[in-house]
Amino acid sequence: MPLIIKDEYPEKLFRKDGKRLDGREINELRPIKMDVGVIKNADGSAYLEWGNNKIIAAVYGPREVHPHHLAKPDRGILRVFYRMATFSVFDRKRPAPGRREKEISMIIADCIEPLLFLELYPGTSFEVFIEVMDADGGTRCASTTVAALALADAGVPMKSLVSAVAVGKIDGKIIVDLSGIEDKAGDADLPIAITWYNEEISLLQFDGNMDLEEMNKFLDLAYEALKNIHQIQLDTLKSKYVKLQEETSNPNHKNDNKGE
Ligand code: CDP
Repeated sequence: MPLIIKDEYPEKLFRKDGKRLDGREINELRPIKMDVGVIKNADGSAYLEWGNNKIIAAVYGPREVHPHHLAKPDRGILRVFYRMATFSVFDRKRPAPGRREKEISMIIADCIEPLLFLELYPGTSFEVFIEVMDADGGTRCASTTVAALALADAGVPMKSLVSAVAVGKIDGKIIVDLSGIEDKAGDADLPIAITWYNEEISLLQFDGNMDLEEMNKFLDLAYEALKNIHQIQLDTLKSKYVKLQEETSNPNHKNDNKGE
């Protein structure tokens, strides 16, 4: 069997037909699949497959704060724990949370906190646990997106959802939703998130070079992609309630569950 060195970058990130290596157009998202209510023991949860990324988010709260000294008498607190499984990347990732995981947990919390009414929950906490089981570029954006969905699934009052995506630049072309290889080999990478209640940017990181004109193009492309991602989040939440409604209006529903 030939030895495959996964981290060797291909020389070209575009095919001869102008498409990206995975066959996408420059403004095309990877396939996205979401689900909610996937963890029985959590107050709310969500699952996301975004290209090769597989991420689960589970939410608890409002509940007692541990350790107690973190509790605030006048408001609730939000704690986010982004973790990447050891088996989620080609190299063995150290199991202990590293600096990158702490940074990503912090930026996700910064994206989500403005959505919540923490002042209504003094002395309590909301905790969001995010596990990246398979990683292939853009996990901070995917994790932000799935965390918002899990909070909504938990019935936590929110001003809106937040959606996130990374845009980038390769060979002078601006592309949407970078895969792992595009993230590593590209010239620029800009993760961006929008909170929908005010359509404001709540995350904007940047790695690489670009001029102002390119920045405007980045933002336009990101906005179009974010609208699509938001729609998938909304459809996923709605489908949960449609399913519930169907189950409760089906007279055989109780019989269907007999024997469980
Ligand atoms: O995942 P995201 O793009 O938000 O963050 P990153 O730090 O820019 O990482 C980009 C990609 O590198 C990840 O999605 C993983 O596919 C990969 N990665 C890895 O292979 N090993 C790590 N320890 C961390 C990231």
